[in-house]
Amino acid sequence: MPISHYPVIARAHTNIALIKYWGKANEKLIIPENNSLSMTLDNFYTDTSVQFSQSLTHDELILNHQLIDDSTRITKFLDLVRKRAGINFYAKVESINHVPTSAGMASSASAFSALAAASSKAAGLNLNFKDLSRLARRGSGSASRSIYGGFVEWKKGTNDSNSYAVSIQEHPIMDIRLITVILNRSHKRISSREGMKRSVQTSPYYDAWKKTTASDLQKVKNAISKNNFNQLGQVAESNAMKMHALTLSAWPDFMYFKPDTIKVINKVKSFRDNGINCYFTMDAGPNVIIVCLKKDSQFIKSNLSKTLKSDNIVVSGPGEGVKFLHKIKSEGK
Ligand code: PMV
Repeated sequence: MPISHYPVIARAHTNIALIKYWGKANEKLIIPENNSLSMTLDNFYTDTSVQFSQSLTHDELILNHQLIDDSTRITKFLDLVRKRAGINFYAKVESINHVPTSAGMASSASAFSALAAASSKAAGLNLNFKDLSRLARRGSGSASRSIYGGFVEWKKGTNDSNSYAVSIQEHPIMDIRLITVILNRSHKRISSREGMKRSVQTSPYYDAWKKTTASDLQKVKNAISKNNFNQLGQVAESNAMKMHALTLSAWPDFMYFKPDTIKVINKVKSFRDNGINCYFTMDAGPNVIIVCLKKDSQFIKSNLSKTLKSDNIVVSGPGEGVKFLHKIKSEGK
């Protein structure tokens, strides 16, 4: 395919890992130490438009209508696409993050997944989902999973060609909901990249993490196929706590929890004591994601709204995989 003379627009949704990716076997190629499994969310997504052009003198990035001065990470990513397509044109990249309110949520998963789809097509490549996932992975590991909708597994592989995500169940049978409880909008102090590196190099528990994560993954896959929500929730919660234990046991130690994180965790446990089946997970930041069933989601949200702003409590269902659009939508949801 020749390069596109029109901007190519792609939409990708973000995802939350139920079995976490935490640690790289190869830093440069972003090959993980363990397989991970996520659910793509319907409520958080990024729309990205890309056009390569002979008339540009550098890559141009416009994020949420603002011109970004330092686009080094995008340029490094586009270099991969240019190399593969055999072109040397720069690109104009326009990206809009659709998150309810200015949530300050990490959006690298949806961002690099949308960028992989839009830039490869704009460069004249016609990549299948496997190759899109491999490409997205080079921007951010978790982006490899956002190519697909529903439940997705990232198979760690051993090299660039066999490390990619696959669909586990595109349209979940389970009536699952993930409630994002946004507690802190400021930037995290230790990036996931740095946090993983430190955990791999210094935590005495890293080997135990790798071993138990492999069996956690099997249990979650069984839970998905048998529609067993409690098993999925229990294993996801335990896996998240094991990931955070790596941060506590690393040196120098670090912690993503804030006091309010613990309050929400305790709240989830008290819901459970009162017969509501719900669990929690957390990424490399203080926000808590509550894993529950649709039938309980509104009760949980309204209960939490007594002490937290309801705008900061977002209920998401399963979202779809990456897709191409005709027009970029410029306003938030
Ligand atoms: O892909 P990154 O570099 O944003 O790392 C993601 C790390 C976690 O969100 C904590 C876990 C995961 O699997 O998404």
